[in-house]
Amino acid sequence: MKNGPARMKSPQELSNFPKAALPTRHLRSPMTYSTLLYDVRDGIAFITVNRPEKLNALNAQVILDLGAAVDQVRAAADVRAAIITGAGSKSFVAGADIGGFQNLDVTEARRLSARGSGIFRSIERSTKPYVAAVNGFALGGGCELAMACHIRIASENAKFGQPEVKLGIPPGYGGTIRLARLVGKGRAIELLTSGAMIDAREAHRIGLVNHVHPADQLQAEAEKLTRTIMANAPLAVATCIDLVNLQESLQMDDALALESAMFAMLFQTADATEGTSAFLEKRAPNFKGQ
Ligand code: COA
Repeated sequence: MKNGPARMKSPQELSNFPKAALPTRHLRSPMTYSTLLYDVRDGIAFITVNRPEKLNALNAQVILDLGAAVDQVRAAADVRAAIITGAGSKSFVAGADIGGFQNLDVTEARRLSARGSGIFRSIERSTKPYVAAVNGFALGGGCELAMACHIRIASENAKFGQPEVKLGIPPGYGGTIRLARLVGKGRAIELLTSGAMIDAREAHRIGLVNHVHPADQLQAEAEKLTRTIMANAPLAVATCIDLVNLQESLQMDDALALESAMFAMLFQTADATEGTSAFLEKRAPNFKGQ
């Protein structure tokens, strides 16, 4: 077969960025990623998590690639902002890859959490603004990724949630902290403990997303908003982000460390084994509180 056993879709097929928006000067990054599409166009890095067949779930390679992409955004003088989205029309990121959750010991679970959490923290601390263009499911690690970005805009079909409790674990990439900060303690605790999914309209109502757009306009709107920010003084933009982050950074680091420790600890419970197995076996979990 000419292109190997499974034909890979081209970046244009998988990317949500409309063809009409492709620039005349299309700068392709010299660095390529196996699980991300990364393009720079006129100062914006467009990062697309590209595992549509798994609803863009974050496996170890995606986390590795995301970390490298965040480093690339930071280092590239020609990049002033980034937009993160998911490939396909169904999902932004449907969470951490549950397949990688099985049989983790405390050390491995802690490492898993610390790695993702550290990368999401780098996004949050970036002085180049990140916009999450949430184009479908933003669940678990997907919701956490969106919340680590400075601004979230969503398509009308987007869905948000932190369903980790259904797997027997709490969020491990900053979800408990950032959700409470964005939507308030009561709403955060309800979302975290119910594991409920909310639609884009509700996410907008409670302050989880800034704007909601029809799906076919999401990428253009993300770019428009990003370019509005980029028209402003870069040092002033960076300072605003720094100052907003500073208000919470001390508590944030302690809270993240504690969240990672608890995430790793609960991985050792029978309920976590049951929850992840049940998902993979496509059946309802039978939790015992152990
Ligand atoms: N980890 C691993 N695989 C995942 C995944 C995840 N977080 N989310 C989706 N997938 C996979 C499914 O297993 C399925 O793979 P398969 O085709 O090989 O069986 C594929 O992506 C498509 O998902 P599917 O469940 O068939 O789509 P759906 O439209 O019926 O349901 C969701 C969509 C998002 C409701 C459902 O996939 C889901 O609940 N995902 C898990 C969400 C979650 O708990 N995230 C937090 C993890 S910490």
